[in-house]
Amino acid sequence: MKQQLENIKAEAAAKIAEVQSRAELDALKIKYLGKKGELTAILKQMGKLTAEERPVMGQLANEVRSYIENFISETGEKIKAVETEKRLEAEAIDVTVPGKSNALGHKHPLSIVLDEVKDIFFGMGFNIASGPEVEWDYYNFEALNIPEDHPARDTQDTFYITEKMLLRTQTSPVQIRVMENQAPPIRVIAPGRVYRSDAVDATHSPIFHQIEGLVVDKGITMGDLKGCLEAFAKSLYGEDTKIRLRPHHFPFTEPSCEIDVSCFRCGGKGCPMCKGEGWIEILGGGMVHPKVLKTGGIDPEVYSGFAFGIGLERLVMFRFNVDDIRLYYDNDIRFLNQF
Ligand code: DAH
Repeated sequence: MKQQLENIKAEAAAKIAEVQSRAELDALKIKYLGKKGELTAILKQMGKLTAEERPVMGQLANEVRSYIENFISETGEKIKAVETEKRLEAEAIDVTVPGKSNALGHKHPLSIVLDEVKDIFFGMGFNIASGPEVEWDYYNFEALNIPEDHPARDTQDTFYITEKMLLRTQTSPVQIRVMENQAPPIRVIAPGRVYRSDAVDATHSPIFHQIEGLVVDKGITMGDLKGCLEAFAKSLYGEDTKIRLRPHHFPFTEPSCEIDVSCFRCGGKGCPMCKGEGWIEILGGGMVHPKVLKTGGIDPEVYSGFAFGIGLERLVMFRFNVDDIRLYYDNDIRFLNQF
């Protein structure tokens, strides 16, 4: 038995000395000192000893037990110290590591240019007006002098909610809504989303944006339209920008025109951006048709006005050199990050 006890002591000492973790140490504690441990197993055999042997072995067994206990608790302290050290090391804050920046979003290119356009018109005393995107046929067509059988309806096919209700094809219906609600002088722009039943390609999207403009007052002439839109073009594209009015037709203006700006890339000489023309068309406009004024509740004998419609996507395309309208809506971060 003495030999057994000494073996246990030696074996336990060797194993404890090699322990690396608390778990291993706990396992050894159970193995040697536990109720079903090796030391206990030997002590159970004490009954077989003679009366003289028993106290001697008892003392030896106690010595071995307390030797193992002490060794385990010392080793436990050491492991604890090492673990604390490791933890402190792992948790240490290195104040010299570069910080992580939080990526902030930013305005969409359409919003960047729209905000600029708004600022330009605010500077000329315009206010913002708005109307519903789900619109009555009446406001979108009828009141704008585009009756049921008018060919202009073919170029503005849209999505119908009911026979009389549709997704607006233009921001022009806001003109009527403003005139119905406000007496002249009127000076508003109405930016917003419009819809057409067009197939998607590089220059067409079933959803796009327009900025409508309406000015109504006594004595408004085509000269006011030209001056206003020239000031707008110069603010947006630079002081050297020129504009040119070309005759056109819109049912709700008379006379009507399309307005081109001199190409801001080549200054008018002709380049790929303006397709060699030197000019780029950016908007349609004209003098508000007397019928439309009347429909809006304004006396065309007393008042006159001009109106215009700008395609926002087109403005942004030229502004940032974007060649495909789909890029605005694809949400491709590689595209958006460039602005
Ligand atoms: N609503 C027209 C369109 O979508 C654009 C337009 C042209 C608006 C002339 C106007 C205007 O106010 O006077 O094609």
